Amino acid sequence: MFTLETAATAAYVVAALLFILALAGLSKHETSRAGNSFGIAGMAVALVATIALALARHIEPLGLALLAVAMAIGAAIGLWRAKIVEMTGMPELIALLHSFVGLAAVLVGWNGYLHVEGDSAGAEAAQLATEGMLGIHSAEVVIGVFIGAVTFTGSIVANLKLSAKIKSAPMMLPGKNFLNVGALVLFAALTVWFVIDPQLWLLIVVTVLALLLGWHLVASIGGGDMPVVVSMLNSYSGWAAAASGFLLGNDLLIITGALVGSSGAYLSYIMCKAMNRSFISVIAGGFGIEAGPSEDKDYGEHREINAEGAAELLAGATSVIITPGYGMAVAQAQYGVADLTRKLRERGVEVRFGIHPVAGRLPGHMNVLLAEAKVPYDIVLEMDEINDDFDGTSVVLVIGANDTVNPAASEDPGSPIAGMPVLTVWNADNVIVFKRSMASGYAGVQNPLFFRENTQMLFGDAKDRVDAINAALSVGEKV
Ligand code: TAP
Repeated sequence: MFTLETAATAAYVVAALLFILALAGLSKHETSRAGNSFGIAGMAVALVATIALALARHIEPLGLALLAVAMAIGAAIGLWRAKIVEMTGMPELIALLHSFVGLAAVLVGWNGYLHVEGDSAGAEAAQLATEGMLGIHSAEVVIGVFIGAVTFTGSIVANLKLSAKIKSAPMMLPGKNFLNVGALVLFAALTVWFVIDPQLWLLIVVTVLALLLGWHLVASIGGGDMPVVVSMLNSYSGWAAAASGFLLGNDLLIITGALVGSSGAYLSYIMCKAMNRSFISVIAGGFGIEAGPSEDKDYGEHREINAEGAAELLAGATSVIITPGYGMAVAQAQYGVADLTRKLRERGVEVRFGIHPVAGRLPGHMNVLLAEAKVPYDIVLEMDEINDDFDGTSVVLVIGANDTVNPAASEDPGSPIAGMPVLTVWNADNVIVFKRSMASGYAGVQNPLFFRENTQMLFGDAKDRVDAINAALSVGEKV
């Protein structure tokens, strides 16, 4: 028989399929737009079906009104944030959204407890007890609250680190690995206890423990590993949603949570491989990564160059490689860089770009900016494709990049970014570094590149400096 309930269940299957198509589409450049559309359609179907289900279950008018108000407020905030967010601010916004998923999972877990275990004389508790499912329910509550709370505080720390509101350097509490493992063991013991005897104070202890663990796990991870952390929290938020799905008896939430959880975990794994990091070490809050030597090493003096000097060097070059980074995005220097590329190529200079997998703040960040400025695609190369070519290159322009060109990653085993593959720019004849000061990069690590014999610093906003070089080259053309 056709009922609203069966229609909603059928719609959930359709939404789940659309989410799978969305993930498949997003895995390739050419199909990513279609993937996005599938995702939007899936979410629209899921929302309508959820409201229909609430109606079928005779939601009270007050509940319906609250649902409508919450959706209107949520949609308005979502639209507003999506409109104003800068591309460089995307990872921190995503981290914030993950924290909401975590918080929702905590609230769903607590709500489940208050309705069942906390109300042992109530109808729901009685029904679950006769079905022999009370223990399973208690396990769902405590696991859901734990994953949700870890995701909540972990994502808040990630948001604060990514928006530079707190330092991105790893927090190194003494015995940090012991603290993390100890918290997990304690959680396992408390879970067993809670399933046997679901008391309120146990749930409070698990919630506080998970909030502290989430904070500590992400705070212990250094800035250079943040891309992995963001995709890892994405994965956690999926598992938190799946846990809520079990509690609410909502199949779509279980499927969607599992999709997000497993795809996030896979992305974290791929990123760890690209950055030569141990997956287990990163998800365990930098397990095994100990504090490196302090950063007060004397690297000697740095040399400076001005825009005219840089233009002269470039005019005499035969080959140039440009390695852009986060600073190019902040300065919006990509148009000037595209102009410079065109000018140099017209003079017969070979110009190519070297793109590090985590340059900027988003996967593919630099590729998007360069494509926007119409830099020809065939001269934009991945790190692995160009790393052997720096040797023999006349000039490398490091435009607002720092961690991704730091030789300490390959030369200093004590460095927090040790082992991370980097662009070996220092092998070129001349390196010009565009930045505003001697400040360290995102990982908070000093960069010995700036003090090398063949490196010259070009201080100032990257866009201003690139424009000044373009102006100097134009004068040269007219003479
Ligand atoms: P960063 O290490 O972040 O360094 C960027 C440099 O740009 C800074 O040293 C800064 O120096 C300079 N800068 C900032 N504004 C500038 C401006 N207006 N003009 C000129 N220079 C400017 O850059 P990177 O090499 O691209 O490395 C990316 C880092 O972010 C890595 O540690 C990576 O792990 C992390 N991360 C990446 C992602 C993804 S997925 N890509 C996500 C999260 C985190 P001054 O202040 O002296 O100007």
